[in-house]
Amino acid sequence: MALRNKFVAGNWKMHLSVAEGVALVTELRALLDGVAGVRVAVAPAFTAIHPVADALRGSLVEIGGQNVHWEKQGAFTGEVSPEMLVEAGATCAIVGHSERRQLFGETDEGVRKRARAALDAGLTPIVCVGETLAERDAGRTLEVVGAQVRAGLEGFDANDLAKLAIAYEPVWAIGTGRTATSAQAQEVHAAIRAILRELVGDAADCVPIQYGGSVKPENAAELMAQPDVDGALVGGASLSAASFAAIVRAAR
Ligand code: G3P
Repeated sequence: MALRNKFVAGNWKMHLSVAEGVALVTELRALLDGVAGVRVAVAPAFTAIHPVADALRGSLVEIGGQNVHWEKQGAFTGEVSPEMLVEAGATCAIVGHSERRQLFGETDEGVRKRARAALDAGLTPIVCVGETLAERDAGRTLEVVGAQVRAGLEGFDANDLAKLAIAYEPVWAIGTGRTATSAQAQEVHAAIRAILRELVGDAADCVPIQYGGSVKPENAAELMAQPDVDGALVGGASLSAASFAAIVRAAR
């Protein structure tokens, strides 16, 4: 039996003004009232975290950052520390998203340092991994994703892993409408779980592994019915309270 709750997070990326974000979560918390057994978070742009956290006060919906630095403070223009995220009301942080890797030069070493710092500040890091279409077409998916998992989690023990989540996001499925099939998702999630089990034994069963990449209300239930798919990291569909709430309900 799985020793983990489903975990569904919405990555708003660089969308939604503060007013739009507050309106969305005000609608969302009403739609999710009474829904239990699923961990839920939204990750606004940094500028909206505090007001959106205020709008969610008293709700079970959590707030996450879309990235986080590994230093507590310093001359790191444009970065936000884990402590600043906590101060703003965040409880989790996405690290290593493929857009950070592809567009902003994020490395596996940077992902490991960010995840470590997030854990040390009491945040749940959502560690993102995923292959490109070229890597999948070359039959290198498990090799690439496995290397990202091992490098991103190097030096982490069972206690650390029990406090983080992993998101498998095939790059070719992000924002494309081309969702991985549930079989494709389960294959990679099972491979990730096997690596975690190699690293920390049975504690691997406590780690939620989210699927991300064109998750919609129509496909969420089948994806999250897979034994090693423990939730979703949702982009476009999280920008609608109704769609995101439908995905959360599908996770139960
Ligand atoms: O982090 C989630 C995001 O990358 C997935 O985006 O729009 O394909 O759900 P989307």
